[in-house]
Amino acid sequence: MEVSQRAKGIAPSATLFITNKAKVLKSQGVDIIGFGAGEPDYDTPTHIKDAACAALEEGFTKYTATEGIIPLKKAIKSKLQRRNGLEYDIDEIIVSCGAKHSLYNTFMCLLNPGDEVILPLPYWVSYDEQIRLCGAKVIAAEPEDNLKINGDTIRRFRTEKTKLLVLNSPNNPTGVVYSEEELKDIAEAVLETDMGIISDEVYEDFTYNGIKAQSIVKVAPELKDRTIIINGVSKTYSMTGWRIGYAAGPKEIIKAMGNLQAHSTSNPTSFAQIATVEALEGPQDSIEEMRQAFSTRRDYIADALDSIPGINCSKPSGAFYVFPKVSDLYGKTTKKGTLIKDSQSFSAALLDEALVAVVPGSAFGTDEYVRLSYACNLDSIKKGVDRIAKFVNSLR
Ligand SMILES: Cc1ncc(COP(=O)(O)O)c(C=O)c1O
Repeated sequence: MEVSQRAKGIAPSATLFITNKAKVLKSQGVDIIGFGAGEPDYDTPTHIKDAACAALEEGFTKYTATEGIIPLKKAIKSKLQRRNGLEYDIDEIIVSCGAKHSLYNTFMCLLNPGDEVILPLPYWVSYDEQIRLCGAKVIAAEPEDNLKINGDTIRRFRTEKTKLLVLNSPNNPTGVVYSEEELKDIAEAVLETDMGIISDEVYEDFTYNGIKAQSIVKVAPELKDRTIIINGVSKTYSMTGWRIGYAAGPKEIIKAMGNLQAHSTSNPTSFAQIATVEALEGPQDSIEEMRQAFSTRRDYIADALDSIPGINCSKPSGAFYVFPKVSDLYGKTTKKGTLIKDSQSFSAALLDEALVAVVPGSAFGTDEYVRLSYACNLDSIKKGVDRIAKFVNSLR
């Protein structure tokens, strides 16, 4: 039996590929430093785990409402009011099995074959795959400068077929955060058309140097009826394995997503939903604790990488990634005789010869860069950067 054309078209996740490869090597006793993971290194806070245990004890182990239990939808509604200054009704919110699933449902319910989606470069891998799975066309939009799009980028790439713009701030992989002014400029260009926006805000609480990430819907309320906000608890509460994400947007679209979910996954895991209520409504200090640790690590890793000749690394304002430019090293040869010709060969040689895992920029559509996650402890970061420096200095 042959797999479908649709399935054949799906590329494996490059981020998971590198992370898994590093994990396998680690399990074989190889001393790998992994900068691949897109998840905080912290454990889920105890009070959240306790809430899940209590739910299990009480037998909360059966199907729930497909689109999420009411207490959770109410907790999300309050969070959107409190954190984002936005008003959404319960029926404008749906809970899914991770933000990735929320995104998938959104694209599936909005895109027809042939529709175009403006996807700013560099982009998180799954957007590209999910959009293409819907038969829609990815329009990879190269920003004017500075890894950030603006209103003119949208004007340059839009056509009469443009259905959506994907906005991700704070951004994976670059860590850039759009300011209020920048969001207003983007909103203006969007409002000249009838395109919608997918606003992926999963890293909203990890910003540095006093910068606060805003939702584009708060900055431009006129966009509310054509924006789907995507968020979740994976990053903010270090709950990546719990698989809870959510979407907020116009009622009819949320309803369609509920119908799709009813025939695909049904409800997100019952006791993980209870844990998420606790995450959103219980003590919030774990977020600040992680944010401060990330801030220290960001300062260290960005400066240390930037000081390596041939690597340029700016200090991003958000998320937990740095995205250094390594293309000045292309054309050089490693000690083992491997030619570094692109981000893929750079990452493969770095893993092979220096035992450091990074994600090639080509996975995000931008081959001059690599991505490093600094969601790992400072000692590992120091050791890893030292290895990168030695590796780069040994290139000929
Ligand atoms: C930009 C972005 N959106 C969404 C997700 C998915 O998060 P979740 O674990 O909730 O599916 C990720 C995870 O890496 C991400 O980087």
